[in-house]
Amino acid sequence: CGIVGYIGKRDVAPLLLEGLQRLEYRGYDSAGVVITSPKATGLKMVKAKGRVRDLEARVPKRFTGTTGIAHTRWATHGAPSDENAHPHLDPEDKVAVVHNGIIDNATELRAKLVADGVEFRSETDTEVITHLIARSEAETLEERVREALRHIEGTYGIAVLHADFNDRIVVARNGSPVVLGIGEKEMFVASDVAALVSHTRQVVTLDDGEMATLKADDYRTYTTEGSRTTASPTTVEWEAESWDMGGHDTYMHKEIFEQADAVDRVLRGRIDDRFATVHLGGLNLDAHDARKVRRVKILGCGTSYHAGMIGAQMIEEMARIPADAEPASEFRYRNAVVDPDTLYVAVSQSGETYDVLAAVQELKRKGARVFGIVNVVGSAIAREADAGVYVHAGPEVCVVSTKCFTNTTVAFALLALHLGRIRDLSVADGKRIIAGLRQLPAQIEQMLAREDEIKKLAQEFAEAKSMLFIGRVRGYPVAREASLKLKEVSYIHAEAYPASELKHGPLALIEPALPTVAIVPDDDLLEKNRAALEEIKARSGRILAVAHQEQEKADHTIVVPKNEDELDPILMGIPLQLLAYHTALALGRDIDKPRNLAKSVTVE
Ligand code: G6P
Repeated sequence: CGIVGYIGKRDVAPLLLEGLQRLEYRGYDSAGVVITSPKATGLKMVKAKGRVRDLEARVPKRFTGTTGIAHTRWATHGAPSDENAHPHLDPEDKVAVVHNGIIDNATELRAKLVADGVEFRSETDTEVITHLIARSEAETLEERVREALRHIEGTYGIAVLHADFNDRIVVARNGSPVVLGIGEKEMFVASDVAALVSHTRQVVTLDDGEMATLKADDYRTYTTEGSRTTASPTTVEWEAESWDMGGHDTYMHKEIFEQADAVDRVLRGRIDDRFATVHLGGLNLDAHDARKVRRVKILGCGTSYHAGMIGAQMIEEMARIPADAEPASEFRYRNAVVDPDTLYVAVSQSGETYDVLAAVQELKRKGARVFGIVNVVGSAIAREADAGVYVHAGPEVCVVSTKCFTNTTVAFALLALHLGRIRDLSVADGKRIIAGLRQLPAQIEQMLAREDEIKKLAQEFAEAKSMLFIGRVRGYPVAREASLKLKEVSYIHAEAYPASELKHGPLALIEPALPTVAIVPDDDLLEKNRAALEEIKARSGRILAVAHQEQEKADHTIVVPKNEDELDPILMGIPLQLLAYHTALALGRDIDKPRNLAKSVTVE
């Protein structure tokens, strides 16, 4: 979900609506805005099920004010509806709350409030916060919010507006991001810098357990217990333009086409030709410690998990350290054995995914060393990790991840090379990998130049009800990610399988109506993969191969430039991002905002 707020002199409604547009990728099933001004006596609110544009259509002509908070929602408690949209007001329409996160004891608190005669207007967990604040009789708004939060268990990023204290916005954070934007005689607040950067790049990121009061010309931060904290503003690195569509029809298309530049950025300044290794400034792991690592365990969700699968293979191959990846969402619930000689790596584009963050916190509590591979600088996971590597992909707005996936796999290649060169990877192999890395941006460009060919194929695949993606060893995670990408964005059912497992089940599915996409790198397993294609062909299956050379058994081969064997997976995924994109386009899907999904899942 997304939160945005403003206090200053400008007309607030258009500012908040623009902010919501910028945050819409974080949730888009309903939205709402509430405003006031120093002279006003009450609050004015509009909410709507649907997109921000649906909300905009409902905003009346005279909806003016200079202070306000707004929200765009991704439903957790209660279906998407006008009533369940935030903000939530108390019965007297004095207190308005917008909230990200989940209140764990909402049912219990709600029952108590109902027993006391409170009437609820929505099914959300958030509404309990509103009532708790409204019922407090403390003198200041800050104290009322604090009192309410004392009853609450769970995660939140909240912004509160009160008709009787309309010179301020009070915000609080526990597990869900809140960023203050510091302007000239105006202040902003948002759950994500995306909503702030067109106004100010001076930001203060709240910590968990921190609150803030924003007034037009001033802000102060303090703990939920009330003691002052000192947070000085930092400057956001990313330019406001990075959030624009830049002439593309969708963010997904833009982000796919940014990949050569993005990869260039993740490599920049990090290669050390003299020792055929890399410098990873944020890593904080000396050679002595690196030699002690006996295992690497990679944790992430969704696309980041798939990048981790590729990373695990790279680490095994280059550094010869046993490594594997696991969904963070599973890991955190299975009371995993935490081993002091294992290096844990948490992967997350946003740096906010709750399951990943919770896994990191649990690991740290048990004394593990955790690295982060993260895109968003200063995000919760980046801050929680002991050390890490930023992937520098720039902002990614489309809900489905493309450039961040690619950059994360490159970041893993750097980590693998770094660990490898401390252990047993030879200088010659180090040089070979570095040369391969340097070739990537140009090879990505070559791949993207083939868009028309892939677009044609996509027309054909758009008719499929289901698709099979297969790959072996290096190709398998590529198949997994390609299958996820297709299903997320086109809603076509897709399944990924190790090519080696075909005869243990999936062969039963093969028929002309089920196309197979096969990842066939030119490595030591080429012949094995060819045999799999033959098995499919013999059963009249249609095959699209993604390979380094034409595959005779395939109906079509997308030929990908060859790199070093270890780095091949990075490039092989790229045409399949385009395939997913054009299939979704042919089907008229809402590409940047697939149904039921959100960019950052900051809840369990
Ligand atoms: C959500 C998004 C996915 C993403 C996953 C992990 O499910 O829809 O595209 O891969 O979260 O996000 P993260 O920010 O942790 O990489």
